[in-house]
Amino acid sequence: NWPERVRVVEVGPRDGLQNEKVQIPASAKIRFIDLLSDAGLPVVEATSFVSPRAIPQLSDADEVMTQIARHEGVTYPVLVPNLKGMERALAAGVRSIAVFTAASEAFTQHNINASIAQSLDNFRPVCDLARREGIAVRGYISTVFGCPYEGVVPTSKVLEVAESLLEMGASELSLGDTIGVATPNQVVEVLDLLISKGSIPVSRLAVHFHDTRGTALANVLMALQRGISIVDSSAGGLGGCPYAPGAAGNLATEDLVYMLNGMGIETGVDLEKLVLATSTIAPFLDHVPTSKYYQAVRST
Ligand code: HMG
Ligand code: MG
Repeated sequence: NWPERVRVVEVGPRDGLQNEKVQIPASAKIRFIDLLSDAGLPVVEATSFVSPRAIPQLSDADEVMTQIARHEGVTYPVLVPNLKGMERALAAGVRSIAVFTAASEAFTQHNINASIAQSLDNFRPVCDLARREGIAVRGYISTVFGCPYEGVVPTSKVLEVAESLLEMGASELSLGDTIGVATPNQVVEVLDLLISKGSIPVSRLAVHFHDTRGTALANVLMALQRGISIVDSSAGGLGGCPYAPGAAGNLATEDLVYMLNGMGIETGVDLEKLVLATSTIAPFLDHVPTSKYYQAVRST
């Protein structure tokens, strides 16, 4: 019992590039995003309108967002932490945003310099403005399966944060395994608890696995079995989080799409064009992209 179709949310230009050590020119990011659109990805998370001091890698957000070629039917969400970010995003013509908090206090403090409650208070006016502008809001919850500072995270806290985000107008929630510690049984436990409460429609849940310990694809499989049909991934497996020590790249989009293709689950993504997109950003990195599929086809 798999879904017939999965919506792949490409986060490489944002979650991937926010954590690459090297400075990448805006022109290379724009080309990367344009090629990801060409590859048929329905959602390409493009950048973040956060403090340039917090994430210098994405300080060119304004330039990137005003210069990408927007394909019809593709959405280009950006991360927005506060009203200042929202104003910048609106000025750059953004039509879809994501707010982001976590299920553990210590991570939230390190990541966005706020408590969880303060972060939610900061998002309310952002969500109100988004509603007035007709802009969709995704809500990210980090550290759902474990925190780099606090260890175990109670699922009751995940549920509480999820309900708050939905209540303020988020149309979709992404459950983040920020440091890539989740195992398949844990995915089932967390999803069953969230879904069984009845307040969170499964159609609105996305999963966001980092592949730090190699469990991301196995975790996706369990999520699909639980009815999840939105999966976040990053071209080439780029990524991490600068405020989560040891976080490796996201699950690679190539590896995800290869598995889904084999299972007969539709994504609309052209794997060859996706590899082309990754191969154009690869020369700007200081390492080979970690995607297994990418490495397999590029070395033959
Ligand atoms: P703060 O220092 O508490 O904020 O940072 P502040 O309001 O006091 O502002 C400090 C300075 O930043 C000021 O500048 C502001 O103007 C400026 P100054 O007057 O000192 O020159 N500033 C901004 N500039 C541009 N755009 C803005 C903005 N906001 C403030 N939007 C803040 C708080 C939230 C702003 C900061 O901590 C921040 O930007 N954090 C972002 C961290 C981040 O992006 N982390 C990675 C994304 S989360 C993630 O990767 C996890 C995820 O993938 C899911 C998962 O894997 O779990 C989503
Ligand atoms: Mg992430």
